[in-house]
Amino acid sequence: MASDYDPQLFQELVPHTHEEVVAALKEHLGDYRFQHCLRVEKQAMTIAETVGADVTRAGIAGLLHDYAKERTDEEFQVMITAQHLSADLLDYGNAIWHGVVGRYFVEQELGIHDEPILQAIGRHTIGDPQMTTLDKIVFVADYVEPGRDFPGVEDARAALAIGLDQAVAKELQETILHLVQKQNKIYPTTFATYNELGTN
Ligand SMILES: [Fe+2]
Ligand SMILES: [Fe+2]
Repeated sequence: MASDYDPQLFQELVPHTHEEVVAALKEHLGDYRFQHCLRVEKQAMTIAETVGADVTRAGIAGLLHDYAKERTDEEFQVMITAQHLSADLLDYGNAIWHGVVGRYFVEQELGIHDEPILQAIGRHTIGDPQMTTLDKIVFVADYVEPGRDFPGVEDARAALAIGLDQAVAKELQETILHLVQKQNKIYPTTFATYNELGTN
């Protein structure tokens, strides 16, 4: 288990400097979301350190999790077709696409091919019943970073103080409740994730 930030590993995983990656992110996001990404990077690294996971990958995936968030619907639809992804995805929207489909923008535009990183970015919008520790770290860091102030965020932070799995469960419960309240569609994988990781 690698639990320290490793600049050499960063170089192996990312064909750019950290500054260049931050500049690319800034170019594609408005300031509010850009700042959120910087906070998620830090939060993900902190959680990784706490649980003894890979701090370097957690930082990279946290930083880039919303890289594609501000692309147009058309860009996502083109990518869904080009990557031969499930046509069911076309029935959803940006909230799902920017992770599941966004990972391909990260791969193609930034040249990052590390599957654990891409998977954590891909799963941050829908979860997965088989989420890895890295997937969970990005999923939770996105939800509890210090800029978040929605009702229930303190409960999620309290759950994280107990453990990462507790925070994942809380986030799944709250997210599903929130989506139902707004009468939004829920991606099937999210229900499967809830059944596996969000219940007692
Ligand atoms: Fe996101
Ligand atoms: Fe986010």
